[in-house]
Amino acid sequence: MELFKQLYRYNFKKLHSVLCPNKSKKRIEHYEISAYGTARTFAKELGLNEIAVLLQETLDEEANADKALT
Ligand SMILES: [Fe+2]
Repeated sequence: MELFKQLYRYNFKKLHSVLCPNKSKKRIEHYEISAYGTARTFAKELGLNEIAVLLQETLDEEANADKALT
């Protein structure tokens, strides 16, 4: 559970906005969607429902960011 909290607190957006040029952002969004989706599914399977909800919210934000770059 602590691992999931740490993953949630980690702000990927700040990291890739500094490290990546604009044309790479869509690729980064796809990595984030994959990572958050996997973490969300693990959280669900482990019965960590509050964490799963937070991860789903972040996953939705990443999906919206991906659409905005299209
Ligand atoms: Fe993102």
